[in-house]
Amino acid sequence: MKDKLVRFGVSLEGELLRRFDAYIGAEGHDNRSQAIAGLIRKEFVIDAFDRGAAVAGAVTVVYDHHRRETVNRLLDIQHDHGPIIISAQHVHLDHDNCLEIIAVKGAGARVRELAAALKAVKGVKHSTLSVTLAGK
Ligand code: NI
Repeated sequence: MKDKLVRFGVSLEGELLRRFDAYIGAEGHDNRSQAIAGLIRKEFVIDAFDRGAAVAGAVTVVYDHHRRETVNRLLDIQHDHGPIIISAQHVHLDHDNCLEIIAVKGAGARVRELAAALKAVKGVKHSTLSVTLAGK
């Protein structure tokens, strides 16, 4: 069930509002309300991480396909984090690169630890962690 929207007034310094509007444009939000809601949710997710609440999302990793030890290390780390990994999708990007998209769900601290471990592997060229609060 969708919650009813509540209106409230916000007072900002002119300069801060100008920067906020520039941010909204760059981020592709439709309006200020949507952008403020997005920022609040983002802040809550960061807070949830710190409290150890459950989060869900994806870790993406791009790595050098030719380095066998990179492939093995990434697999070892994933096996060590089996309980918080829902699935992993492997994409052969091109002759040299592989992309792995790992769906995760679990305690924020564990998910963050997994993402950091994968990112630190030698041969990993790019890695991101994107999560939202699990459940509510
Ligand atoms: Ni591949």
